[in-house]
Amino acid sequence: MCGIVGYIGDRKILPIIIDGLKRLEYRGYDSAGVALVGNDSYFIKTKGRISLLEEKINNSYIDGNYFVGIGQTRWATHGEPSDLNAHPHIDCNGEIFVVHNGIIENYYEIKKDLIERGHRFLSETDTEVVPHLIEEYYEGDILKAVLKAVNKLRGSFALAILSKKERDKIIAVRKESPLIVGIGKNENFLASDIPALLPHTKNIVILKDGEIALITKDEIKIFDMQGNQIGIEKMEINWNLEQSEKKGYKHFMLKEIMEEGEVLKEVIRGRVKDEKIELNEIKDKDFLRRVENIYIIACGTAYHAGLIGNYILTDLLNIPVKTEVASEFRYENPNLSKNSLVILVSQSGETADTIASLRVAKKLGAKTLGVVNVNGSTIFRESDEVLQIFAGPEIAVASTKAYVAQILTLLLFSVYIGKIRGDVDEDFEKFIVGEIKRVSEFSEILLDKKDEYLEIAKEIKDLDDIFYIGRLLDYPTALEGALKLKEISYIHAEGYPAGELKHGPLALIEEKVPTFAISTDERVFEKIVSNIKEVKARNGKVYSIVRDDFKGIIKESDRSVIIPKTHIYLSPILSVIPLQLIAYFTADLKGLDVDKPRNLAKSVTVE
Ligand code: AGP
Ligand code: GLU
Repeated sequence: MCGIVGYIGDRKILPIIIDGLKRLEYRGYDSAGVALVGNDSYFIKTKGRISLLEEKINNSYIDGNYFVGIGQTRWATHGEPSDLNAHPHIDCNGEIFVVHNGIIENYYEIKKDLIERGHRFLSETDTEVVPHLIEEYYEGDILKAVLKAVNKLRGSFALAILSKKERDKIIAVRKESPLIVGIGKNENFLASDIPALLPHTKNIVILKDGEIALITKDEIKIFDMQGNQIGIEKMEINWNLEQSEKKGYKHFMLKEIMEEGEVLKEVIRGRVKDEKIELNEIKDKDFLRRVENIYIIACGTAYHAGLIGNYILTDLLNIPVKTEVASEFRYENPNLSKNSLVILVSQSGETADTIASLRVAKKLGAKTLGVVNVNGSTIFRESDEVLQIFAGPEIAVASTKAYVAQILTLLLFSVYIGKIRGDVDEDFEKFIVGEIKRVSEFSEILLDKKDEYLEIAKEIKDLDDIFYIGRLLDYPTALEGALKLKEISYIHAEGYPAGELKHGPLALIEEKVPTFAISTDERVFEKIVSNIKEVKARNGKVYSIVRDDFKGIIKESDRSVIIPKTHIYLSPILSVIPLQLIAYFTADLKGLDVDKPRNLAKSVTVE
């Protein structure tokens, strides 16, 4: 699920592999390893950070005469993080090196069979069956052996394979888990994600599901799983290296939050003209008239953005709209027809559950719309329609700028479909476009209040439990605030609809359990005042994220962060900013690894 890097060319191999792995570090991992093949071969792996791997590397090998190399950062699924379980894995003779992202679901049967045939295994991983299977099938042609082997495998896998016997090539296989080939001059690259390639090339080939690449120094050939050579589709990346570096910020997360104002401008660029919203990317506009029901499917933060989209679409249209987490939706029996629209929201476009949901939706005949950040990702390619969110590379595991971009994109889409269906009139469109144009400027006001967030972070950093409450559109913000805090600061946090507090969680409120109350909607403003009073009556401290004119709430709160007044559809974009930054400062004050929280990975390409 983490990082794979490969290089073939005349430059020194090891520094390129190590640098590439470091650029993928953000994805979260527990071990790292590399294999180099040339006149000689060398492989080394370790539990722990890449810096530890570097320490362990015997310097005499750095300058060795190698032609090709692969490396991986592992996020353990089968077998604990350990030196032995780290990748690469090898065959019995130590001639075949394999790194793998993903899970081989039928590894157990294969392993049993291979052991009976005399193969010796060293690790507890599922991955180790791959080099042994290739060894079993090898008859002088590594590509043919890999083809036979991968056809035996079930599950999700991105594989990079080297053989000492054929030292002029890397074989790369993609099933579900992403892999990208970077095209250079007299050299080629391989990586599981774009940031590793950015220092070297912008010309890439994104392997599609079920494709195998044979990569040499000056050629890339693509095959299907049956071994038929197929066409190669090159594309150019429009991200730059600078966007994927920290630019002086202490962490990527902080940098990415601070970019939100710019990202919001990027989302509307070319889509908001004068007083109108135009989504020229939508090819089948007629379909939007016919839509009878809408599902929004996503995971984690993207799911929270989906809940906001759900609210807006329900408010504007006269059709049922439902939002579900992808891991549930994929196993349900949803009511989809050819007039259903299924919206898949995903920053990476590679989340396994969301991809599976997309495929379920297509199988049931629904129209699919991907709301995706990464161009060329699986959801980007497989959805019938795509709206890119243009947040640029998001490196920190905690998603921040993608979230605000997802909300704004879903808002643009909601108003657009509403207009096409006659549910939104020109006056409302004009009004909301005016508000949309101001949201970036408002976001900058909130991004500037760092001192206020730091004060709150100091107060909460040593606590164990925190509640977040909100009503209507402030409820998904409560969920997202709680998710941000828990994933990076490891403080237990829960988001609740404010009215639900009294149905259970209130039992937990006491002096050391504060509540963040989010309030930006005047229709329920007084109800939130009552909820705040309920918390205060139990000695709970209240931090409010509140619109500037809700004096009653400000008065009742221990501390308030003031949000500029905007239309309710846009306030979730603003009110999440303080919560993101409070989570950030809390985790940083605790000295935690903010960009790479424990146990988590940036894109969850396994189930
Ligand atoms: C966000 O902070 C999380 N790390 C996570 O919930 C994430 O949003 C989720 O895994 C979905 O990822 P995606 O947007 O790439 O599909
Ligand atoms: N399933 C493999 C393992 O546990 C690969 C995990 C990964 O994607 O890093 O080693």
